[in-house]
Amino acid sequence: MKLSEELLNNLIEITSNSAIACYPYIGKNEKILADKAATDVMRHQLNKLNINGKVVIGEGELDEAPMLYIGEILGNGNGPEIDIAVDPVEGTNFVAKNLPGSMSVLAVAEKGNLLNAPETYMDKIATGNHIPKGSLDIDFTVEKNINIYSEITKKNNSEITVCILKRPRHEEIISELKRLNVNIKFITDGDVSGALLVSDKKFNVDIFMGIGGGPEGVIAAAALNTLNCNFQGRFLFKSTEDKSRANKMGIKDFNKKYEINEIIKGESIFCATGITSGDLMNGVIKKNDKYVTETIITHNKSELKLIKKVASLT
Ligand code: FBP
Repeated sequence: MKLSEELLNNLIEITSNSAIACYPYIGKNEKILADKAATDVMRHQLNKLNINGKVVIGEGELDEAPMLYIGEILGNGNGPEIDIAVDPVEGTNFVAKNLPGSMSVLAVAEKGNLLNAPETYMDKIATGNHIPKGSLDIDFTVEKNINIYSEITKKNNSEITVCILKRPRHEEIISELKRLNVNIKFITDGDVSGALLVSDKKFNVDIFMGIGGGPEGVIAAAALNTLNCNFQGRFLFKSTEDKSRANKMGIKDFNKKYEINEIIKGESIFCATGITSGDLMNGVIKKNDKYVTETIITHNKSELKLIKKVASLT
């Protein structure tokens, strides 16, 4: 195993501290400041690690993101070569408005094993590990996907719940789900968490579908891969500029449908700490001068682990 126990512990420390850095901004309507605080801490701490890391999913490209930009080299250079996906604040609106479900996220894989994703949208579909790989498909109609799911699980449509971002672009899918008498769990942001809800029956979400951020799609795939769940996605490019950025990252086929094992391969770790409490975990709690954080960390095929941890910025 190249990704060591020490790295696992370091990642928990890092997402905990970047979540804590956001704490003063919860409910302050300052999403840019919150993101900057978390990004600063994440970058500073990643740079201290014994790794030879490269950001493949980041805050943007060098011209638009001064820190944790795609291609940025991280770590002290003395350690394994790894690809890193960062989302210091997933759900910036949730932090700004003190709403449930924001988290600070990192995913890592061995070098060359994590897809380099452009800042564009992605059409996504995800299901849990009780569904055979390749059963559902973003190119099938909503009805066909629901029928397949229903057949596999022996659930009636009225017992199936689909999680989807509440956006006008999803109107057609939503009216189709309603026509089929399927339950809908709407999320207003945070589709990494939304996709992760398929990973455990306790969340009562059967299928995640719809269009959200491409980088968030890669991060969700990284998380679902560690839990042996299913994910499929296709980037959606609006402009020729989008396409040329993607091209520079090595994407040649703009219509390609990515299976989970084309997004992430080999050994990988997903690590997320709650900023505000949500379905997956509790947010940061301040107790005197200490902070209590909750982190989910998964390492290829191991069970979803919920780790409670006390951390302090000082
Ligand atoms: P941020 O945390 O960067 O604000 O992203 C939140 C988010 O809801 C993602 O989870 C999701 O993939 C994306 O925005 C959806 O984008 P849009 O708001 O444009 O539909």
